[in-house]
Amino acid sequence: MSPYRMTRTLPEDATGAALRADVLDGLTRMPKALPPKWFYDARGSELFEEITRLPEYYPTRAEREILIGRAPEIAAATGARTLVELGSGSSEKTRHLLRELTGLHSYVPVDVSESALTGAAEALLEGHPSLHVHALIADFTRGLVLPETPGPRLVAFLGGTIGNLLPAERAEFLRSVRALLEPGDALLLGTDLVKDEAVLVRAYDDAAGVTAAFNKNVLNVLARELDADVDPDDFDHVALWDRDREWIEMRLRARTALSVKIPELDLLVPFEEGEELRTEVSAKFRQEGVRGELAAADMELARWWTDSAGRFALSLATAAG
Ligand code: AVJ
Repeated sequence: MSPYRMTRTLPEDATGAALRADVLDGLTRMPKALPPKWFYDARGSELFEEITRLPEYYPTRAEREILIGRAPEIAAATGARTLVELGSGSSEKTRHLLRELTGLHSYVPVDVSESALTGAAEALLEGHPSLHVHALIADFTRGLVLPETPGPRLVAFLGGTIGNLLPAERAEFLRSVRALLEPGDALLLGTDLVKDEAVLVRAYDDAAGVTAAFNKNVLNVLARELDADVDPDDFDHVALWDRDREWIEMRLRARTALSVKIPELDLLVPFEEGEELRTEVSAKFRQEGVRGELAAADMELARWWTDSAGRFALSLATAAG
């Protein structure tokens, strides 16, 4: 048996309280918006896994290509003894890092989802019987407190999930990551890159309709968790490219005028015909933008790797000296 600990820094009911606050705030504002984190109940996580296997959804494969090709360089450059993975989810990609980080002492997966953490850690540990795993149930967008583990630390935030944060949230997040870094530590950041609009839109509006089901699933979450009276079939999936802000937006568009009753919140939410609810922003990046955002958070872009098709990037950053 491997050394394994799990620490909860979120109260058991934190998710419920945060969902209520986000729904109350997001559905009473104009235009309506919900944060993308509410996609990921068990069904939503399954649908996302399915998305990663779609022919149109290139980011997962592109990032895996970089990780497999560059893991030896990442290991050599960082000499990491602790790997902290933010939003670790299924930890599938982590395998490629663990294989090369031969001096690794501790793995610290951080996720808001306890079930994601448990399943992922078990699978990973099979090949690494002496690795210390300290799973953290925590919201990594808030001030994280990491367990005492040997340095240097490598903090990984993969998948392009940083693109789900709005620019101001991103700046705050990067500053909080910077606060975790001691001299010699590093950040490994995955970012999807700006590219042809048609390629981007197809990745978020696939032919099989998996992304549409993923998007509508947030309505199932509201129905189950808040007893909301809402039919996902009353909404259409929308994915569009905002060329000024260089992000993909997913929205749910009301097919007819309708109202969503949410008795738990004492709320009746009216939609006009065609009215849209924004459910996700997925920002796409350029190297100079990443360098600039890191610099604004007092970090330095040390390495930049892309996949062979130039679709996705992994950045290695250090505390600015
Ligand atoms: C998991 C946040 C990286 O933004 O591409 C996939 C989520 N949304 N298809 C992304 C997602 C629609 C994904 N991230």
